[in-house]
Amino acid sequence: MRKIFEMKVKEFVPQQLKPLPENGKVAWQAPSNIALVKYWGKRENQIPANASVSFTLSNCHTQTRLEFKRKIDKSFSFEVYFEGEKNKAFKPKIQQFFERIEEFVPFLKDYHFKIYTENSFPHSSGIASSASGMSALALCILELEKEMNPKISSEYFIKKASFLARLGSGSASRSVEGPIIEWGLHENIAGSSDFFGVKYPFGINEVFKSFQDTILLVDKGQKQVSSSVGHNLMHGHPFAKARFQQANSNLDRLKPVFENGKLETFIEIVENEALSLHAMMMSSTPYFILMKPNTLEIINKIWQYRKEAKVPVCFTLDAGANVHILYPKEYSEQVLEFIKDELVGYCEKGQYICDEVGTGAERISTE
Ligand code: PMV
Repeated sequence: MRKIFEMKVKEFVPQQLKPLPENGKVAWQAPSNIALVKYWGKRENQIPANASVSFTLSNCHTQTRLEFKRKIDKSFSFEVYFEGEKNKAFKPKIQQFFERIEEFVPFLKDYHFKIYTENSFPHSSGIASSASGMSALALCILELEKEMNPKISSEYFIKKASFLARLGSGSASRSVEGPIIEWGLHENIAGSSDFFGVKYPFGINEVFKSFQDTILLVDKGQKQVSSSVGHNLMHGHPFAKARFQQANSNLDRLKPVFENGKLETFIEIVENEALSLHAMMMSSTPYFILMKPNTLEIINKIWQYRKEAKVPVCFTLDAGANVHILYPKEYSEQVLEFIKDELVGYCEKGQYICDEVGTGAERISTE
């Protein structure tokens, strides 16, 4: 297994790096994403058990500035500042990330880093920042590599950023580009890879390029079960094999839908994926439930509204209680009215976030 991994990832080990810069700073903004076909279950080295696909978001993002200074000793050395304040809680995850990526960015131990990071969405909103956060940090590290090796192509830059981000958090591999990103080897998707996300390579109907995602904040607390624990519970899960097949076949089913924009089938696939993800959690050993009573209230209201108002709106869920409401832009006014009239009461402090499909990460000037 390790051997195959090493062969496949060789292209990401830099061959020659120019003299390392003494100090400097780089900054990137990376978006969050919402999976339509879910990744749940992985193998060694962050290899996904099935392929997944997501909408890149626009308003929910992380901005990270990486300041670097050469040092002599050979150990990882970094400080993290989250929303202006020194933060110790993120250090173990970043330390683990550095350890995992070191062989691909061998200069990491040559620097002391100051990592300044902030999210556009409220802290403790229950929205995972690991995808946008790991992607922004991976892009900053790549930007530093580019200073040493200016010849790397933009294609390689994006691919390696996704490759590194994946090693921080699997779904982060889908948070570099937009509007629709696929990650995971799939027999019917040419160019797909377990190692990095790729722009969805087939036709995308206009309706999906401006799709709306309104995120209802049902529970802003810390999740009782982390994603990494959840992924691990797929090992030996009685339904694992069928679930991985289901996800891959849902990707096949989405192909014509992305192209022709047939929303009825889109809705069926997306809701099936969300509920299957949570069904896996409920049938793990030990089992757990991340949905809250208000999550179910909202789902039922959406079903009722869709039937009565004949508006093509659907929901999806992350590994948490919050509900993502997905709908075409042309229905924004109606759906927002429905949300305000009927759903805000189920949100913690009436909070929700309006987002939409976005185009991907952007470099930020540090001048
Ligand atoms: O990237 P991770 O390890 O936090 O896992 C993300 C899992 C889901 O958000 C539930 C699904 C997905 O594909 O994004």
